[in-house]
Amino acid sequence: MAAEPLVSIRHLAKSYRRGAQIVPVLSDITLDIAEGDFIALMGPSGSGKSTLLNLIAGIDRPDSGELRVGGVDISGLPESSLADWRAAHVGFIFQFYNLMPVLTAFENVELPLMLTRLGRAERRARVELVLGMVNLADRMDHYPSELSGGQQQRVAIARALITDPTLIVADEPTGDLDRASATEILAMLQRLNAEVGKTIIMVTHDAHAADAAKSLVHLEKGELLNGNSRR
Ligand SMILES: Nc1ncnc2c1ncn2[C@@H]1O[C@H](COP(=O)(O)OP(=O)(O)OP(=O)(O)O)[C@@H](O)[C@H]1O
Ligand SMILES: [Mg+2]
Repeated sequence: MAAEPLVSIRHLAKSYRRGAQIVPVLSDITLDIAEGDFIALMGPSGSGKSTLLNLIAGIDRPDSGELRVGGVDISGLPESSLADWRAAHVGFIFQFYNLMPVLTAFENVELPLMLTRLGRAERRARVELVLGMVNLADRMDHYPSELSGGQQQRVAIARALITDPTLIVADEPTGDLDRASATEILAMLQRLNAEVGKTIIMVTHDAHAADAAKSLVHLEKGELLNGNSRR
């Protein structure tokens, strides 16, 4: 029997309410994502990519449908458990890095560990390990303003990895980078996928970025065009 997919989505729907108006965003999304996949989610602006990513990551909640991640029905979790689930299972990478400007690279990466029981020495060892993985061992004490965009995104990748999450979600991780830095970030994500086995879901507008992924999903006006297409 085939293993259960890491992410299993059935007939998922989401709309936003603005005053009296209801804005339908996603309708009837059905999708499986296998453990170890690296999936690119593409589609025009406003098609619902970030909304879908945020549902999978437990940042937002669906109106209806089924959403299981790692065997857990996350749409059924109460708010406090959902926050705990997210902290343990999801690493986030954003377009504009979202680093804390008053913290060094080291401290930014350490931050998610402050919510755990790990002691200081153990935290330091882990932070040094992941900053080494993104080739920033020599920039640990720099502030975000003292780093290039590509370096800041590498800090963000290290921060996403530090809790050893089940799933990494990235919303246009190369959207603000020049081609050379983008290529470097994509190579890093590919390595995390291939060598560390991380499952990655990446929203992107960029065909070059999508080429780095193993499979591709297209959203159009809140609907998937043709399920997963495998390369
Ligand atoms: N909090 C919200 N309240 C109301 N409408 C929203 C909200 N968030 C998103 N929307 C609407 O949902 C639709 C999908 O938005 P979403 O951000 O998912 O699109 P996207 O595919 O990520 O677009 P982009 O490529 O521009 O980032 C848009 O029409 C948007 O206006
Ligand atoms: Mg978006």
